[in-house]
Amino acid sequence: MTMGTDRGGPGESPPQGHDRGGPGGSPPQGHTDEVDFAVHPAAQLVPAAERERLLADPGFGKVFTDHMITAEWTAERGWHDAQLRGYGPLSLDPATQVLHYSQEIFEGLKAYRQETGPVVAFRPYANAARFNRSAARMAMPQLPEDAFVRALELLVTQDRDWVPGRPDHSLYLRPFMIATHVGLGVNQPSPSCRFLVIASPGGGYFHGGVRPVTVWLSEQYSRAAPGGTGAAKTGGNYAAAFAGQQQALDNGCDQVVWLDAVEHSWVEEMGGMNLFFVYGSGTDASIVTPALTGTLLPGVTRDALLTLAPDLGIPTEEGRISVADWRAGCASGEITEVFACGTAAVITPVGEVRGATGGWTVGDGTPGPVTTRLRDQLVGIQFGHLPDPYGWMHKIC
Ligand code: COI
Repeated sequence: MTMGTDRGGPGESPPQGHDRGGPGGSPPQGHTDEVDFAVHPAAQLVPAAERERLLADPGFGKVFTDHMITAEWTAERGWHDAQLRGYGPLSLDPATQVLHYSQEIFEGLKAYRQETGPVVAFRPYANAARFNRSAARMAMPQLPEDAFVRALELLVTQDRDWVPGRPDHSLYLRPFMIATHVGLGVNQPSPSCRFLVIASPGGGYFHGGVRPVTVWLSEQYSRAAPGGTGAAKTGGNYAAAFAGQQQALDNGCDQVVWLDAVEHSWVEEMGGMNLFFVYGSGTDASIVTPALTGTLLPGVTRDALLTLAPDLGIPTEEGRISVADWRAGCASGEITEVFACGTAAVITPVGEVRGATGGWTVGDGTPGPVTTRLRDQLVGIQFGHLPDPYGWMHKIC
């Protein structure tokens, strides 16, 4: 098995020696890597009764906590004016660079309230490292990984009452960075940026819980091309995906599946999630996921599954799967299950595939045993029902 590139490694200790400083890689003059956050709690909080009402059925990404984090970066000063403050609208000049040229990046990770009490986050340093890889690709400044994690800790601690206690609910954390330079020229990356973190309590990502999705093979559009931004978590990738997602919906499907941009035959991703193919069954089951070619997002959940599956006796492989392989494998019974994985939805079974030239069912169209086992294992570690041998859970408060 080839290993992915986004591993934090066992123990998930904060990685050292990462590239720091501005888009060019060298730190700007006259500042250090230290980012000190001032704490300015909101004058008014959502009343407790209203908060509990919202937490009863939050959906996904609709409800936001009382506070947020903001920090400014300029080429001259580095990171400064970092603070926790009340959640609220941003005031931006209409000519701000991010609004026109989409110079922005984001992350997504979750904090969980474990039954035994603590609130923990899943692999925040893996997200911090990917954030900086996305920043490098989008010509944005590096944020020290410790500052990224500290920002999450501050926000979650301040808004601890918003971390859901219901089964399968969690606090989704959305760190992001936008280009704040004002002007319409495109002759340089923005010399100023803002880092923010907002938090959103949520339940399941897909309406109706863990049910198999029907996917549409996008043969007309591509998500990412070699040399492009496919491996970066940047808004433009998602903006470009909406037309394909709309086609999926128009064809009665839940989600779009992206193929490679060159031959339009190799499977890459499903919507914003990575895909896994289960070959065989029982003790002979193994899982295969498309290799990270530079056009796929290196998912933290994908990486976690590649780590924990072998410990469950399920061999893993990173390779290439064509649409023809997928179809023939399902017809012969060699491919028994397919699932997608990501932070938001964790693991989602794929039940049916449709495309311009017809469709097919995966297995018997219901969630398979390997999909269910891997999901239970991962969710068990995240919620603290199972031991965490990898040191993935980072205690916050
Ligand atoms: C994830 O599940 O990791 C995602 O990125 C989904 C998000 C864009 C809503």
